[in-house]
Amino acid sequence: MIRVIFIVILLIIFIPRILANTPDGAKRKSGKLYDFTTPANVYNYDMFTDVLNQPHCLIAGCQGSGKSVVINGLIDTVLHRLPFDRAGGAQLVLIDPKRVELAAYSKMPHTLTHAAGFNPSAWLDALKQAVSIMDDRYTYMEKKGLKKYDKGDLYVVIDEWANVFKNGGKDAYKMVLRLTSEGRAARVHLIMATQVPKANIIPTEIRENFDARICLRTANAIQSRVIMEDNGCELLPRYGQGFYVKPEGTVLYNIPYVKDDEIAKDIAWWNDQMEKNR
Ligand SMILES: Nc1ncnc2c1ncn2[C@@H]1O[C@H](COP(=O)(O)OP(=O)(O)OP(=O)(O)O)[C@@H](O)[C@H]1O
Ligand SMILES: [Mg+2]
Repeated sequence: MIRVIFIVILLIIFIPRILANTPDGAKRKSGKLYDFTTPANVYNYDMFTDVLNQPHCLIAGCQGSGKSVVINGLIDTVLHRLPFDRAGGAQLVLIDPKRVELAAYSKMPHTLTHAAGFNPSAWLDALKQAVSIMDDRYTYMEKKGLKKYDKGDLYVVIDEWANVFKNGGKDAYKMVLRLTSEGRAARVHLIMATQVPKANIIPTEIRENFDARICLRTANAIQSRVIMEDNGCELLPRYGQGFYVKPEGTVLYNIPYVKDDEIAKDIAWWNDQMEKNR
């Protein structure tokens, strides 16, 4: 009898927790049920979650300052927090001139495109895809009389903007400008990293559209002023700290570091979910 009471108490405690762990309960896709329970290991994701809620984010700093660590943290947060669902979940368009940086996510169900390596036409195609999704969302919003898109977020990630800017030509520039100036209401976010925080690589016209910026260590004060409109980034440690700049103010952050093996675990977890629901 005592055992039965004990089990009932355990169920009362744990069932709501198990249910609460499932972002939107189970979602239906092609008639199948997907289980979107988030993986158990949770980090200090506050900064990453906040960035994902911003319209766009520029991540700038010198080589080895931790730009890719931030991008990995952001994508991992997408994988943890935002369910995949073609109709209403988060999706990713990855532009990865350095090729290896984002390769691990290329098979994720969230990933629409992974344009990897030195391939300007693939980068342009990926940007075109993002712009056309944005345009479709505006058409949908017009039809429904919406001011803001009512389904999932699309994150367009560029890890390294300087390559795309220098080799993608005017088209790349124009599309990035469109995404940053029109993306907000369509929930299309641009997350862009650069190790070349110079005024000729991030022209004011583009820079001004990034409300949020993560400013890591720069080579000098001039570069700090380009990304942060203030000195200071040149004094940051080699990596591990950065200024998170938002219209509300600037905060110095210890940047959370999600290790490669943790990311690999999360990716394996997603693959496993997909396998189970196939
Ligand atoms: N927040 C952090 N916490 C702990 N270690 C970090 C952090 N950021 C960076 N590192 C360390 O610094 C290394 C370089 O970081 P990362 O590859 O993100 O730099 P990057 O700015 O993307 O460099 P690159 O310009 O070459 O692409 C990481 O592999 C990691 O060892
Ligand atoms: Mg990098």
